[in-house]
Amino acid sequence: MTLEKLSWKSIIPCCSMVDGKVARSKKQARKQVSFQRLTLLDFDDPSSPLSADELSNSFIGSRLINFTFTDLREVTHHFSSANFLGEGGFGRVYKGFVDEKLRPGLKSQVVAVKILDTDGLQGHKEWLTEIIFLGQLRHPHLVKLIGYCWEDSNRLLVYEFLPRGSLENQLFGKFSITLSWSTRMKIALGAAKGLAFLHEGDKPVIYRDFKASNILIDSDYSAKLSDFGLAKDGPKGDDTHVSTRIMGTHGYAAPEYIMTGHLTTMSDVYSFGAVLLELLTGKRSLDKSRREGKHNLVEWLRPYLRDPKRVADVMDRRLEGEYPIKGAQTAALVAFKCLSHYPKPRPTMDDVVKILKTLQEENNGTDSSISDPMTTVTLNSEFSSGSEKNKDVAAPEMNRNDKFLNEENQGYGWRHRINRQRMVVSYSDTALYRRD
Ligand SMILES: Nc1ncnc2c1ncn2[C@@H]1O[C@H](COP(=O)(O)OP(=O)(O)OP(=O)(O)O)[C@@H](O)[C@H]1O
Ligand SMILES: [Mg+2]
Repeated sequence: MTLEKLSWKSIIPCCSMVDGKVARSKKQARKQVSFQRLTLLDFDDPSSPLSADELSNSFIGSRLINFTFTDLREVTHHFSSANFLGEGGFGRVYKGFVDEKLRPGLKSQVVAVKILDTDGLQGHKEWLTEIIFLGQLRHPHLVKLIGYCWEDSNRLLVYEFLPRGSLENQLFGKFSITLSWSTRMKIALGAAKGLAFLHEGDKPVIYRDFKASNILIDSDYSAKLSDFGLAKDGPKGDDTHVSTRIMGTHGYAAPEYIMTGHLTTMSDVYSFGAVLLELLTGKRSLDKSRREGKHNLVEWLRPYLRDPKRVADVMDRRLEGEYPIKGAQTAALVAFKCLSHYPKPRPTMDDVVKILKTLQEENNGTDSSISDPMTTVTLNSEFSSGSEKNKDVAAPEMNRNDKFLNEENQGYGWRHRINRQRMVVSYSDTALYRRD
């Protein structure tokens, strides 16, 4: 297949094209629910910070369960190591079980309880940000926040439990099964739908921390976005971007955002491209154990993505060729467009959803042999020895600090995030949006 046959326009579903332009769906099916969503600004009054009582009596509080610390200690068996699920920059996560013995009417269910492990303003701010967003936004591809605990210095969050953990575990975990092509595309589509929902609402939300560890996987491989501590409300009125401190994760953050601190929904699109590339190649977006020049997956493999003839060279070897070549070329082109150096040529998440949907339909229609997510069962560790290429596939667990930008400048210390002072440099639109 030639590159011309696989041009970007040719893979955007024709039903959405009007006069050569992509028409925005009038229905905007993902429009935010009918109530007016409260934004971070509504809570941002430094002269009178929100109290625990005010939160629990607020509209958001009324949608969530206000657990006591004793409740959560009991449901996790005293935060026992047997219930430990994982740990991120926020703190530890434990499995628990809640039912109506705890609160009348509470559905019996398994939950994940996240404990903020340090106090401090920034930690509290991210904890509250998560509650403000996830307390209001509900969507099949966003993790459901069930409740919270705010007692003295304790800050906890209680979510629905996603049995397959994070995409990072699924894709790179030492003992995880190899995800088939159709499962990878299902996960990509689910995550894309979650992002599109955030971007297309009446009050758009910029997620800002899209990465494999923040995509949680349900038993049926449905993907849900978690971790809204860094989320931001999109620009208002005529503003083209939001200016923020630069925070995010190396290997996923968009170049213009790192350079300028200017945040747009297109920054999320770039991060989506990085995750899609991880799904295609089975390699981490950043891995310093790879050879010089290959640490950053996007910089290393971007040139392969635009050339259909070279796509097979970068596909995850664990797939053992079990994928439709045209589908892989299309997905690679989507990743390539999302990873455009400048934001303007990137597609919207709405466009990405449309294309990934057509891939799924084609896959279901023409290739039943790869519709079973469990088709290829191989231990990742089998790839840890042997050829140089395989060495790249099985990267050892990274030092957690490597995951975050600007380690040497952790303004708030407690969380290894990029935390650089807001840049005073203001780039002109032409510079920022120049095509690559
Ligand atoms: N709702 C959940 N259901 C099941 N497992 C979960 C849930 N939330 C978190 N986990 C597990 O806990 C781990 C830690 O999650 P957490 O979001 O705190 O950190 P992270 O995403 O790995 O890192 P970061 O701080 O960079 O976001 C996840 O990798 C996942 O395995
Ligand atoms: Mg996370």
